[in-house]
Amino acid sequence: MSTIDREYVSLHPKSARIFEEASAVFADGVTHDTRRVTPFPLVMTHAAGATKWDVDGNEYVDYVCGHGSLILGHSHPAIAAAVAEQVGRGTHLGGSTELELRWANAIKGLVPSVEKLRFHSSGTEATMMAMRLARAYTGKRKIIKFQDHFHGWHDYAIAGSDGGAGGVPDSTWESMIVLPPGDIGVVEDALARDGDVAALITEPTGAHMGQYPFKAPEFLHQLREVTERRGVLLILDEVVTGFRLSSGGAQVRYGVKPDLTTMAKIVAGGLPGGVVGGRAEIIDMISHRGDPEWDNAKRVSHPGTFNANPLSAVAGATCLETLAREPINERADAMAARLRAGLNDTLSKMEVTGVAHGVSSLVMVAFGVESEPEDVWKIPRETLHTAAKPGAGPGFKRGMLNAGVDVMGGRGFIVSAAHREQDIDKTLAAFERCLAGMRQDNLV
Ligand SMILES: Cc1ncc(COP(=O)(O)O)c(C=O)c1O
Repeated sequence: MSTIDREYVSLHPKSARIFEEASAVFADGVTHDTRRVTPFPLVMTHAAGATKWDVDGNEYVDYVCGHGSLILGHSHPAIAAAVAEQVGRGTHLGGSTELELRWANAIKGLVPSVEKLRFHSSGTEATMMAMRLARAYTGKRKIIKFQDHFHGWHDYAIAGSDGGAGGVPDSTWESMIVLPPGDIGVVEDALARDGDVAALITEPTGAHMGQYPFKAPEFLHQLREVTERRGVLLILDEVVTGFRLSSGGAQVRYGVKPDLTTMAKIVAGGLPGGVVGGRAEIIDMISHRGDPEWDNAKRVSHPGTFNANPLSAVAGATCLETLAREPINERADAMAARLRAGLNDTLSKMEVTGVAHGVSSLVMVAFGVESEPEDVWKIPRETLHTAAKPGAGPGFKRGMLNAGVDVMGGRGFIVSAAHREQDIDKTLAAFERCLAGMRQDNLV
């Protein structure tokens, strides 16, 4: 057994025992593909701010941050109080509420391209609805997406993704066009060849939260120009970048106005929630018109038991109102900048080939490549994908956990406004220890 694995097993006996039981109940013993960690994942008990704890009593600086949904940190007092109060007032009122209007106004106040919107329960639902709205509005069938860009797990989003596509009917692929990202000529050619494209959807900083970055904002501006010229809708998937790259998301930071925006994670303040927002006439494809042919056949239907449920609504509204009032993004960005610089210093000091990069409060680590952080977009995707030694990602995840830090997947850090300088310094010390272990195990 490797050095890192030996320590991991010895530090987490209770997690190992619980995993045995969980393996009999859940596929892979986990409830989300990304939470799969070999030889077993850790079982967490509770969290506060930027810290969380596991069943063996170990403490972690958390950079998973609710898969990116917790920009205010865990259990922010205002959100916790608002949700607790709402639990006592009803968790589902089976009708419209003033809370959903408050939530919608908070979103509109931050994201100017959103004229109208509808709520969902997840980002997956949001991107599925955005694609359907685009098809209905344009009368065209196909959607362009980029290789590896993650838009959730519905049939259409799975096209061109690196996860499994079992169970997805072949007919789905006929309506999806998957292109390599970053090259506007490729997009131009695809649109010139095919007149049946309704929309193009993209992550605003490149695949997987910017793990495979393209040159933003230039590429986004090019996409906006080409799609507008060709009468194709631009969908910005701001599930991760929304309210993070700026209080108005990537589109405000980069000055790009999409036709539709998909949001989730931060938008619901750490509870389940999703949104499609954008041009009113597109969102109004959901509206009834009093014409039976439209209402019963052509309109886009939109049910969903937990759409805009009062708990998500109050958590989302409280979170976004806080974001509008306080320098939350600035705080998270400053901590991320300190972390990114410190990680790169540590890589140099330890003479490990790799680079920490990323935008705003998203920090990625790419092992096995040399680059200035702002030039990582120049590295071909295949090189970025294959440069690290086999097992480096999982080894990094386990090595950091051994040292008291939980990173997102094997690749990055999602920083919140609850992270403090001492958390960053502790993380950098953990990184140094982790790299030493990875070197011993021949992972770097
Ligand atoms: C860019 C992006 N879009 C969509 C989704 C899907 O969101 P959800 O997990 O809420 O279904 C994710 C999830 O990580 C995402 O990162």
